[in-house]
Amino acid sequence: MERVLAVLFLLAAHAASAAAGVTSPYRRSLQMLPVMPLDADVFRQPPGHNAPEQVHITQGDLTGRAMTVSWVTPEHPGSNVVRYGLAADNLNLTAEGTVQRYTWGGTYQSPYIHHATLTGLDHATVYHYAVGYGYTVRSFSFKTPPKPGPDAPIKFGLIGDLGQTFHSNDTVAHYEANGGDAVLFIGDLCYADNHPGHDNRRWDTWARFVERSVAYQPWIWTAGNHEIDYAPEIGETVPFKPFTHRYPTPFRASNSTGHLWYSVKMASAHVIMLSSYSAYGKYTPQWTWLQDELRRVDRKTTPWLIVCVHSPWYNTNDYHYMEGETMRVQFERWLVDAKADLVLAGHVHSYERTHRVSNVAYDIANGKATPQFNASAPVYVNIGDGGNTEGLANSFRSPQPDYSAFREASYGHATLDIKNRTHAYYEWHRNQDGVKVVADKAWFTNRYYMPTHTN
Ligand SMILES: *[C@@H]1O[C@H](CO)[C@@H](O)[C@H](O)[C@H]1NC(C)=O
Ligand SMILES: *[C@@H]1O[C@H](CO)[C@@H](O)[C@H](O)[C@H]1NC(C)=O
Ligand SMILES: *[C@@H]1O[C@H](CO)[C@@H](O)[C@H](O)[C@H]1NC(C)=O
Ligand SMILES: *[C@@H]1O[C@H](CO)[C@@H](O)[C@H](O)[C@H]1NC(C)=O
Ligand SMILES: *[C@@H]1O[C@H](CO)[C@@H](O)[C@H](O)[C@H]1NC(C)=O
Ligand SMILES: [Fe+2]
Repeated sequence: MERVLAVLFLLAAHAASAAAGVTSPYRRSLQMLPVMPLDADVFRQPPGHNAPEQVHITQGDLTGRAMTVSWVTPEHPGSNVVRYGLAADNLNLTAEGTVQRYTWGGTYQSPYIHHATLTGLDHATVYHYAVGYGYTVRSFSFKTPPKPGPDAPIKFGLIGDLGQTFHSNDTVAHYEANGGDAVLFIGDLCYADNHPGHDNRRWDTWARFVERSVAYQPWIWTAGNHEIDYAPEIGETVPFKPFTHRYPTPFRASNSTGHLWYSVKMASAHVIMLSSYSAYGKYTPQWTWLQDELRRVDRKTTPWLIVCVHSPWYNTNDYHYMEGETMRVQFERWLVDAKADLVLAGHVHSYERTHRVSNVAYDIANGKATPQFNASAPVYVNIGDGGNTEGLANSFRSPQPDYSAFREASYGHATLDIKNRTHAYYEWHRNQDGVKVVADKAWFTNRYYMPTHTN
């Protein structure tokens, strides 16, 4: 009897901790702002003959001692060299990269796309770099992440489904104002495929638009459905062609055999990027890699285990409902067993945060299809609200399922401020208020160091 009472008490405590979810009463303006025109200020080419443009950086190795710099030159290949160093007036190191072009749909020829990886960098150090030698030189800088360690702090920006509307521009401006060290980008970059013939000029405009952030801090890429660019009607049958040419990932460093699934360690975080649009069934390369990868995670060094995937496994919107279900069935148990802290998804163009729930007790015969509170389970955050041209997903299922903690159909971005091995402070900002207004927030406790804590 005492044991029964104790169990009942525990269940009640869990029910109380998983407070009823909030469907935000906030009423945003329903006005949908359009894609920024080709002559918008944020798309302007930099001045100077053959000036390098679309500069972006991403981590170039597993732990943050390398950075891959990418840029394009419009007229001539120009130089593949990046000069870099510790002082802007003393770029005494060089890295030599590669250059390539691609054609699209028989009508579009890409500019010259360069990638070079700067290696042997020190952690937590500011580097200055410049590209465009021979014609017009442009200079930038970045700071490498701290060395992986349990209490190394890092603040991530979380952005998904960004696109290039006026809303997208607000999202980037608000993220810049809130500040962060690196962006976990959850897929769907430029939405070129929503334009006739997948107008690839939109890959160029998008890269010019986000340069103001991504030339100065690494954005870590997850591929979304708008990166597939499968267009047999115009003769383009190689999936991910523009994305692959333009956005390299450091997949080899995590022993992946495919550039769309890989991991990086940054400070106290081990971040895994998965591809919703590559095979993940049993025995496939991604499945095999993830199984091995989860064994490599060392929570003593990198306590925060974060997984990024475009199509959500949990969300309560009618849009794309259950599209991520087959991947959830395949991988959820692994992530709960591994005590992953956070799963970030996009795809659904609204914002949502869940409680710690799992559906690992379900099999097709037992009918236990209701997600259960589980202290070992990650929080799922849906951050597909960057501001793309397709508009908001504003049709939430009713009543709000128990697993949903907070949901709102507005554009915005989030930040995850990892303080130390036990605590991370999370905030979501909707665009429509001032940049400093927080619309949802939570303290997350680490699943490895505080495994039974409910938040
Ligand atoms: C480059 O310059 C820095 C000072 O900015 C100096 O510490 C370093 O030794 C130099 N490296 C080489 C290879 O000359
Ligand atoms: C985009 O935002 C930036 C920063 O707020 C601003 O300077 C620029 O004019 C905006 N561009 C457009 C097209 O709205
Ligand atoms: C990748 O595999 C090689 C060869 O098996 C091994 O030496 C290396 O440590 C592995 N890297 C990681 C990050 O596990
Ligand atoms: C919680 O997750 C663990 C680890 O996967 C699992 O063994 C347990 O059955 C789960 N509990 C519930 C209520 O689903
Ligand atoms: C970790 O950070 C939290 C939030 O800032 C703080 O309350 C806690 O004392 C820190 N823990 C340690 C061991 O420093
Ligand atoms: Fe999307």
